[in-house]
Amino acid sequence: MSDASNILVTGGAGFIGAHTCEALVRAGFRPVIYDNLSNSNAAVLDRLERLTGSRPAFIHADIRDAHQLERVFTDTSFDAVIHLAGLKAVGESVEQPLHYYDVNVTGTLTLLAAMRQGNVRTLVFSSSATVYGDPATVPIHEDFPRQPTNPYGRTKMVVEDILADLAGSDPDWRFALLRYFNPIGAHESGLIGEDPSGIPGNLLPYVAQVAVGRRQELSVFGNDYPTPDGTGVRDYIHVVDLAEGHIAALTHLTAQGGFVTTNLGTGNGFSVLEIVQAFERASGRRIPLRFAPRRPGDIAACYADPSHANRLLGWKALRDIDTMCADAWRWQSRNPHGYGGKDGS
Ligand code: NAD
Ligand code: WQD
Repeated sequence: MSDASNILVTGGAGFIGAHTCEALVRAGFRPVIYDNLSNSNAAVLDRLERLTGSRPAFIHADIRDAHQLERVFTDTSFDAVIHLAGLKAVGESVEQPLHYYDVNVTGTLTLLAAMRQGNVRTLVFSSSATVYGDPATVPIHEDFPRQPTNPYGRTKMVVEDILADLAGSDPDWRFALLRYFNPIGAHESGLIGEDPSGIPGNLLPYVAQVAVGRRQELSVFGNDYPTPDGTGVRDYIHVVDLAEGHIAALTHLTAQGGFVTTNLGTGNGFSVLEIVQAFERASGRRIPLRFAPRRPGDIAACYADPSHANRLLGWKALRDIDTMCADAWRWQSRNPHGYGGKDGS
């Protein structure tokens, strides 16, 4: 056994989790994955072993299982937790709000109680740019008002408030609240990537599945937004840059403690049509598309002011949109059905 720090990564088998585990190993940490595999596949463990040379320890369990979590903190000494486990589909959260509050909020409360019992008081939390709702202006700074427009976003806001109250009650807690913008791409190896079940709700995996021939054409939701080409503008960030942001946050908390709230984005906005063009360049394939009505709840433009993370964490997103698309395409073309054809489509 090496004396590397153990980091519990809830949701570590998921899209962002797998890339965060890879980045942790690269930075000299030992990730332990805690995941119920409700939206991921155990094959990711084989891939991480191939990629990093070491197989992450894996606990197949639910974040709401208090007994299991207590046992985890009793059995192993952890330096910190990176908490990514949760549900993230906006539309589903409108249909099943109780389920979303249960997993995202009750799950976090259960985790925090177990951490307190196990005397682990350092946590990096996956928040989301969705807490800003429809911002009055862009780029978005951390002190903009939080006004999420759906239950998913409200679960993230509630957890942010819980963490602030806990920090206020006991200065030993150290928290980093990371508000991710739109993570895309994949590790450059093509071994790990995004593997949504069913029909992808997000733009990039949908485009990638059109390129690989799994879907016929992209529906572009709205071309009458007040943006340069009329389609929605977002801040796409390479998932490896995002993963490295977690290492920077962890390092900052370990060295300085405190309560950090920061955007993780690039500061650049790209439209849907610009993304399609970038993916066509990366894949050499044409992406057939048609214009469709706006998707309910969508906003025109959303991108970060990333300067707080740059200054505070010494972190900056490095990978450009062409790299994001090239890496996403490498993953998609080598794994046309993701980790193992879960949806068989
Ligand atoms: P993902 O679905 O790929 O990963 C989440 C992981 O959590 C999955 O492996 C899933 O099996 C696991 N999980 C879900 N419910 C669980 C439970 N009850 N107990 C244990 N494990 C459970 O999603 P992701 O894109 O990797 O997102 C990770 C986190 O980042 C989520 O909290 C999400 O809300 C947040 N986030 C994601 C995005 C994005 O666009 N991908 C943007 C902002 C924030
Ligand atoms: C991007 C753009 C769409 C699909 C969502 C969540 C947010 C965060 C990230 C977790 C928009 C357009 C999309 C398609 C399209 N997740 N689009 N055709 O909506 O910015 O954010 O994921 O926290 O909470 O809301 O990302 O990838 O769904 O859409 O035209 O088939 O692509 O209208 O302009 P979004 P997205």
